[in-house]
Amino acid sequence: MAQEFDAKLVEEARKARQRAYAPYSNFKVGAALRTKSGKVFRGGNVENISIGLTICAERSAAVTAVAAGEMDWEEIAVVADTTRPTSPCGACRQFLAEFNPDLKVVVANQTEVFYTVTVAELLPKAFDNDTYKSQSKN
Ligand code: THU
Repeated sequence: MAQEFDAKLVEEARKARQRAYAPYSNFKVGAALRTKSGKVFRGGNVENISIGLTICAERSAAVTAVAAGEMDWEEIAVVADTTRPTSPCGACRQFLAEFNPDLKVVVANQTEVFYTVTVAELLPKAFDNDTYKSQSKN
Protein backbone atom coordinates (compact mmCIF):
# COMPACT_ATOMS: atom_id res chain seq x y z
CA MET A 1 0.00 0.00 0.00
CA ALA A 2 1.48 3.31 -1.09
CA GLN A 3 1.80 6.11 1.46
CA GLU A 4 -0.48 9.09 1.23
CA PHE A 5 -0.55 10.62 -2.24
CA ASP A 6 -2.57 13.03 -4.36
CA ALA A 7 -4.73 10.86 -6.62
CA LYS A 8 -5.62 13.85 -8.81
CA LEU A 9 -1.94 14.53 -9.40
CA VAL A 10 -1.47 10.94 -10.55
CA GLU A 11 -4.33 11.46 -13.02
CA GLU A 12 -2.61 14.61 -14.26
CA ALA A 13 0.59 12.63 -14.82
CA ARG A 14 -1.36 10.01 -16.78
CA LYS A 15 -2.73 12.79 -18.99
CA ALA A 16 0.75 14.29 -19.36
CA ARG A 17 2.01 10.91 -20.52
CA GLN A 18 -0.31 11.09 -23.53
CA ARG A 19 1.69 14.07 -24.78
CA ALA A 20 5.10 12.47 -24.32
CA TYR A 21 7.27 12.46 -27.44
CA ALA A 22 9.05 9.11 -27.43
CA PRO A 23 9.30 7.86 -31.05
CA TYR A 24 12.68 6.17 -30.48
CA SER A 25 12.16 4.22 -27.28
CA ASN A 26 8.37 4.09 -27.44
CA PHE A 27 8.62 4.39 -23.64
CA LYS A 28 6.27 7.20 -22.70
CA VAL A 29 6.46 8.82 -19.28
CA GLY A 30 4.27 11.53 -17.79
CA ALA A 31 4.87 13.73 -14.78
CA ALA A 32 2.76 16.25 -12.90
CA LEU A 33 4.31 18.62 -10.40
CA ARG A 34 2.21 20.44 -7.77
CA THR A 35 3.50 23.61 -6.17
CA LYS A 36 2.80 24.67 -2.59
CA SER A 37 0.43 27.27 -4.04
CA GLY A 38 -1.59 24.44 -5.61
CA LYS A 39 -0.64 24.92 -9.26
CA VAL A 40 0.04 21.84 -11.37
CA PHE A 41 2.60 21.62 -14.17
CA ARG A 42 2.64 18.68 -16.54
CA GLY A 43 5.54 17.25 -18.49
CA GLY A 44 6.29 14.32 -20.73
CA ASN A 45 9.60 12.91 -21.92
CA VAL A 46 10.85 14.56 -25.09
CA GLU A 47 13.24 12.44 -27.13
CA ASN A 48 15.57 13.51 -29.89
CA ILE A 49 17.18 11.73 -32.81
CA SER A 50 20.54 12.43 -31.20
CA ILE A 51 19.23 10.30 -28.26
CA GLY A 52 21.53 11.86 -25.67
CA LEU A 53 19.52 15.09 -25.75
CA THR A 54 16.40 13.37 -24.44
CA ILE A 55 14.64 15.12 -21.59
CA CYS A 56 12.76 13.03 -19.05
CA ALA A 57 9.18 13.75 -18.05
CA GLU A 58 10.23 14.90 -14.58
CA ARG A 59 12.64 17.54 -15.86
CA SER A 60 10.12 18.57 -18.50
CA ALA A 61 7.53 19.29 -15.76
CA ALA A 62 10.19 20.94 -13.60
CA VAL A 63 11.37 23.42 -16.24
CA THR A 64 7.76 24.25 -17.12
CA ALA A 65 7.16 25.20 -13.49
CA VAL A 66 10.35 27.26 -13.25
CA ALA A 67 9.49 29.04 -16.50
CA ALA A 68 6.21 30.06 -14.87
CA GLY A 69 8.12 31.39 -11.87
CA GLU A 70 6.99 28.52 -9.61
CA MET A 71 9.86 27.06 -7.63
CA ASP A 72 8.13 26.11 -4.40
CA TRP A 73 7.24 22.49 -4.99
CA GLU A 74 5.33 19.99 -2.90
CA GLU A 75 4.69 16.80 -4.84
CA ILE A 76 5.41 15.16 -8.20
CA ALA A 77 3.67 12.15 -9.70
CA VAL A 78 5.46 10.03 -12.31
CA VAL A 79 3.61 7.60 -14.55
CA ALA A 80 4.83 5.01 -17.07
CA ASP A 81 3.09 1.97 -18.50
CA THR A 82 5.25 -0.59 -16.67
CA THR A 83 4.50 -3.42 -14.29
CA ARG A 84 7.49 -2.40 -12.17
CA PRO A 85 7.88 1.11 -10.72
CA THR A 86 9.47 3.65 -13.08
CA SER A 87 11.44 5.71 -10.60
CA PRO A 88 13.12 9.01 -11.58
CA CYS A 89 16.58 8.58 -13.12
CA GLY A 90 19.71 9.87 -11.40
CA ALA A 91 19.81 13.10 -13.41
CA CYS A 92 16.19 13.89 -12.53
CA ARG A 93 16.80 13.20 -8.84
CA GLN A 94 19.59 15.76 -8.81
CA PHE A 95 17.50 18.21 -10.83
CA LEU A 96 14.52 17.95 -8.47
CA ALA A 97 16.76 18.17 -5.39
CA GLU A 98 17.89 21.61 -6.53
CA PHE A 99 14.47 22.99 -5.66
CA ASN A 100 13.23 20.74 -2.86
CA PRO A 101 14.96 17.66 -1.42
CA ASP A 102 11.80 17.03 0.59
CA LEU A 103 9.66 16.91 -2.54
CA LYS A 104 7.24 13.99 -2.38
CA VAL A 105 7.58 11.64 -5.37
CA VAL A 106 4.67 9.36 -6.25
CA VAL A 107 5.54 6.51 -8.62
CA ALA A 108 2.62 5.00 -10.50
CA ASN A 109 1.53 3.29 -13.67
CA GLN A 110 -1.74 3.45 -15.59
CA THR A 111 -3.72 1.64 -12.92
CA GLU A 112 -1.82 1.54 -9.64
CA VAL A 113 0.41 3.57 -7.36
CA PHE A 114 3.59 1.76 -6.32
CA TYR A 115 5.05 4.02 -3.64
CA THR A 116 5.68 7.49 -2.35
CA VAL A 117 9.19 8.63 -1.42
CA THR A 118 11.02 11.92 -1.04
CA VAL A 119 13.77 13.08 -3.37
CA ALA A 120 16.20 12.96 -0.42
CA GLU A 121 15.37 9.29 0.05
CA LEU A 122 16.02 8.68 -3.64
CA LEU A 123 19.24 10.71 -3.58
CA PRO A 124 21.03 10.28 -0.26
CA LYS A 125 24.26 12.19 0.41
CA ALA A 126 23.50 14.52 -2.49
CA PHE A 127 25.81 17.21 -3.81
CA ASP A 128 23.99 20.29 -2.58
CA ASN A 129 24.31 24.02 -2.08
CA ASP A 130 25.53 23.66 1.52
CA THR A 131 28.38 21.48 0.29
CA TYR A 132 29.14 23.97 -2.44
CA LYS A 133 29.27 26.85 0.00
CA SER A 134 31.51 24.89 2.38
CA GLN A 135 34.51 25.03 0.06
CA SER A 136 37.61 26.16 1.99
CA LYS A 137 38.71 29.66 1.14
CA ASN A 138 42.21 29.64 -0.27
N1 THU B 1 12.30 8.45 -18.83
C1 THU B 1 11.60 9.43 -18.19
O1 THU B 1 11.05 10.34 -18.84
N2 THU B 1 11.51 9.39 -16.85
C2 THU B 1 11.98 8.37 -16.06
O2 THU B 1 11.80 8.42 -14.85
C3 THU B 1 12.69 7.26 -16.69
C4 THU B 1 12.99 7.41 -18.13
C5 THU B 1 12.32 8.46 -20.30
C6 THU B 1 13.63 8.81 -20.96
C7 THU B 1 13.47 8.14 -22.31
O3 THU B 1 12.79 8.99 -23.18
C8 THU B 1 12.60 6.92 -22.03
O4 THU B 1 11.99 7.17 -20.77
C9 THU B 1 13.34 5.61 -22.00
O5 THU B 1 14.42 5.65 -21.14
